[in-house]
Amino acid sequence: MDIKLINKATAEDIALMKEARKAMKNSYSPYSKFPVGAALITDSGKIFTGCNIENASYGATNCAERTAIFKAVSEGERKIRKIAIVAKKGDAYPCGVCRQVMSEFMDKNDIVLVEVNKEIKRFRLEEILPFAFEL
Ligand code: THU
Repeated sequence: MDIKLINKATAEDIALMKEARKAMKNSYSPYSKFPVGAALITDSGKIFTGCNIENASYGATNCAERTAIFKAVSEGERKIRKIAIVAKKGDAYPCGVCRQVMSEFMDKNDIVLVEVNKEIKRFRLEEILPFAFEL
């Protein structure tokens, strides 16, 4: 599927979006029927992907972004520099919890790519999470 180039999307942006779309195929979302996929690249150049994984208890659901981030961190990667998110049926803006988790492992100027209406929207993390909680 083609993705339009907007807001100076780079070749890397598009490659990450494609990885996110592939990861979305593994979404386990029988309750919401809202598949989500994410792909991130670390400072060392490694790519990790994730999908949303729902649970009958609802509250135990894990979002696609956090699946990808936790996979990266559990493999020893602590610096994420870009994350791409796609959703099958709607806008892929990350939830507040995922934004906060991003802020733990990304700098405020790192990039969050969100697919909206088949277009890539490109944000700095700080734009979508101003005044992030920090200790
Ligand atoms: N979801 C994500 O995977 N990422 C987000 O940032 C927002 C929500 C998932 C969780 C749930 O499986 C479904 O989307 C509907 O909320």
